Amino acid sequence: FEETAYLIIHGKLPNDAELAAFKEKLVTYRELPRTIRTIGSLPLEQYSPMAALSIGIDTMRTILTGGTSPKRPRTPVDTDADTVAEIGANGEELEYKAKGNTEDNLEIAYRLVAGLGTITAAIARIRQGRLPIEPDPELGFAANFLYMTTGQRPSKTAERLMDISLILHMDHGMNASTFAAMLVASTQSDLFHCVGAGIGALSGPLHGGANEAVVHMLEEIGGPENVEDWFRKARAEKRKIMGFGHRVYKTYDPRARVLKPLAELVTKDNPEITRLYETALKLEEVVIKELGQEKKIFPNVDYYSGLIYKGLGFEPCMFTPIFAVSRVVGWVARCLEYLENNRIFRPRAVYSGPVGNEYIPLEERE
Ligand code: CMC
Repeated sequence: FEETAYLIIHGKLPNDAELAAFKEKLVTYRELPRTIRTIGSLPLEQYSPMAALSIGIDTMRTILTGGTSPKRPRTPVDTDADTVAEIGANGEELEYKAKGNTEDNLEIAYRLVAGLGTITAAIARIRQGRLPIEPDPELGFAANFLYMTTGQRPSKTAERLMDISLILHMDHGMNASTFAAMLVASTQSDLFHCVGAGIGALSGPLHGGANEAVVHMLEEIGGPENVEDWFRKARAEKRKIMGFGHRVYKTYDPRARVLKPLAELVTKDNPEITRLYETALKLEEVVIKELGQEKKIFPNVDYYSGLIYKGLGFEPCMFTPIFAVSRVVGWVARCLEYLENNRIFRPRAVYSGPVGNEYIPLEERE
């Protein structure tokens, strides 16, 4: 995760020293005690996890920048020792500068990359009525994320599964959430708001929300023997088959090719996932046969990722936040790049409504 995140943000693979420094930053910035304390006081179990994640980002922004006016000079007032990491390693104030790939912006990008994992893990715990767990500085990003969620240090296999899944979701061209984040960046709003916009766009079922929808769909189908009937009914009802199709790929999504054997791996000793996986295999076969040639519909990245996350112990409602934990790297990298030569996004629309309407006084309107 760390190596690929560095590559995407900086455009080059890190050398030894750069990687070590980057990892150290992420370890420091993943400590968000005040943010977690603040969001922990809300009835988070009543929020959708993506809404809770947005609140977490806004809370982090408020704590780091001093609230609504990020450029306002701010004196660190908190004397809690555990808040130091949140207000800067040396307790200095963070004055936000919204222009380009400045050092401040880069630091905030790092903080967001580190912070989304901590906030997401805390949301997962709070939803289960458990207390959030502090990060373990000895663990890498993927292992620590699993640890903060489950409370147990993961096996090497679980760590690698998480790491690969996060890497595969990290960036993907001008996808909807990246576009949303860049649109906000182009107004010279700050990176926290950019990430908030990305979270909003990612939550939809046609985008990041598909991974959760896939697992619900497989549960609804109930088993491989029901796939043919279910598919025919879904087609008759003009339902989209979740986890299939892509705006860019008109072939098998290469990320799904990597994830499929990993999903098979998690079925070992896990009968519930085995049944879902067998259903998924059968559905893939039917969809490719019926829609592959004709409509170029094949599995996408979201088809097998949910099974992996379920196998790692996550609730389905946490799958899309996990996507955000990784995609935040692409969001901030592209926002920083765009800001180097920024111009506000301002598309024109073609008006196609009626023309020549007369103003009708209110009392005469039907
Ligand atoms: N199931 C059934 N039919 C489909 C599907 C599907 N999953 N995807 C596309 N089609 C049909 C679509 O209705 C259209 O039919 P027609 O020609 O009869 O109007 C045809 O295939 C071509 O679709 P398209 O216009 O090229 O698709 P799009 O680019 O507008 O939408 C998509 C892309 C990903 C939103 C869509 O495929 C979809 O809704 N898939 C299901 C949701 C999903 O899995 N989303 C995850 C996307 S990948 C990762 C991510 O972004 O998070």
